Amino acid sequence: MSRMPLIKPEILFMSQKPWDGRFSENTDEMVEKFTSSIDVDKALFASDIEGSLAHLKMMAHESIITEEEATKLEKGLEVVKGRIEKGEFEYSDALEDIHMHIESALGDVAGSVAKKLHTGRSRNDQVALDVRIYLKKQTLEVMDSLIALQKVLVETAHKHMGVVMPGYTHLQRAQPVLFSHHLMAYYEMFKRDYERFSDSLKRTDVMPLGSAALAGTTFPLNRELTREILGFSKISDNSMDSVSDRDFIMEFISHATICMIHFSRLSEEFVLWSSSEFGFITISDAFTTGSSIMPQKKNPDVAELVRGKSGRVVGNLMAIITLMKSLPLAYNRDMQEDKEPLFDTVNTLKASIDIYTRMIPHVKIHGSVMRTAAEKGFLNATDLADYLVVRGMPFREAHSVSGKAVAFALENGKELHELSLDEIKQFSDLVSEDIFDFLSIESMISRRITHGGTGYDSVKSAVEKAALLLGITLG
Ligand code: ARG
Repeated sequence: MSRMPLIKPEILFMSQKPWDGRFSENTDEMVEKFTSSIDVDKALFASDIEGSLAHLKMMAHESIITEEEATKLEKGLEVVKGRIEKGEFEYSDALEDIHMHIESALGDVAGSVAKKLHTGRSRNDQVALDVRIYLKKQTLEVMDSLIALQKVLVETAHKHMGVVMPGYTHLQRAQPVLFSHHLMAYYEMFKRDYERFSDSLKRTDVMPLGSAALAGTTFPLNRELTREILGFSKISDNSMDSVSDRDFIMEFISHATICMIHFSRLSEEFVLWSSSEFGFITISDAFTTGSSIMPQKKNPDVAELVRGKSGRVVGNLMAIITLMKSLPLAYNRDMQEDKEPLFDTVNTLKASIDIYTRMIPHVKIHGSVMRTAAEKGFLNATDLADYLVVRGMPFREAHSVSGKAVAFALENGKELHELSLDEIKQFSDLVSEDIFDFLSIESMISRRITHGGTGYDSVKSAVEKAALLLGITLG
């Protein structure tokens, strides 16, 4: 059943600033500049237009405006969109933000009917909607690129399955591990990141429009219809919360921070591993740069920059949570400051994921250097203790015996496996000839087959399980 349109355009008043009806003085120039957010929020133009198109369709469906008016406004919005996309749009601080810019440009294109667009809507629910539309899309893109990164990690782990390296604790050589196991640790981290983003997406995917300034609206808006048109999963349940909720932004940035911390750790390893001191990897020329003074230099800039950029995201997290702290309900202008940290986080995170995905296949793995490192530094001391335990000695005692053997080997400039049988036997006569095989790298790794351990079988099955989850076939 169609109702009469609820408002006539001539009733609405729109002068240069949509809100200046009650103002008798012009805005101070400096204030105009200070309060303007257009430089930042113009990035939301597509979301803003998408939201307005849905709002129009819904209003026409509910006979709040006529079909003809809606069509005219829809066409007008497409024209405005085209102008922005082509860079033919003029921005001005006087129009504050992207919402007012678009509304004003629509007036130029479509005439006075443009004054009806904002019916039953406030910039408060409009901006909340725009950011949600934007962030839904960005979160999905981040999730996709995290999948691409995981694939590269799993493929690299598969490719270098036999490579052994020293595993570290306190950055001291601890026990031998498979290089693939080490890489798969990062797979686990980025998998959790993916899960976190997919979880917060549920809370971003909530449609706030119809909350108006804070209290809802007197117009018979069909919020469910707007939701459906925009492809949101649900509508928000409290208008005051809807216009002042920025949890979804805080969540996104905090998940991004954790993800960037993972990258920062990986970067630190890449920087260390590519140094002459380690020599474990060589990052290809395409992903490194030289020094303007030292001709021999080849620097791991990508890793360093990603490590550095993690700081920006941590800063963005501080900015957004501090911004929200102590804000009374409902909307406060402080919230306009949410966009810079969000956009910067999105851009930094996406760039970091993408550059790593591209770089990892171009990293040369020096398996023999890693292996040599794993053979030095008594990485088999725990296994000597384990050997004694299997032969009946309590672990604490075995730990001390192995420690004494290490001290003796150190004094004699040897590794444990380089001692003679008699030399080891002086610490315990439980030791026999089979100790040498037991202390070899291969057998040490092969024995660690508990779920999640570095044993060949455990790592192989972790890699295969990951490949299955990611839908990739390993060569
Ligand atoms: N530019 C504003 C922001 O990003 C839009 C909302 C303005 N609302 C207002 N009541 N002044 O938060």
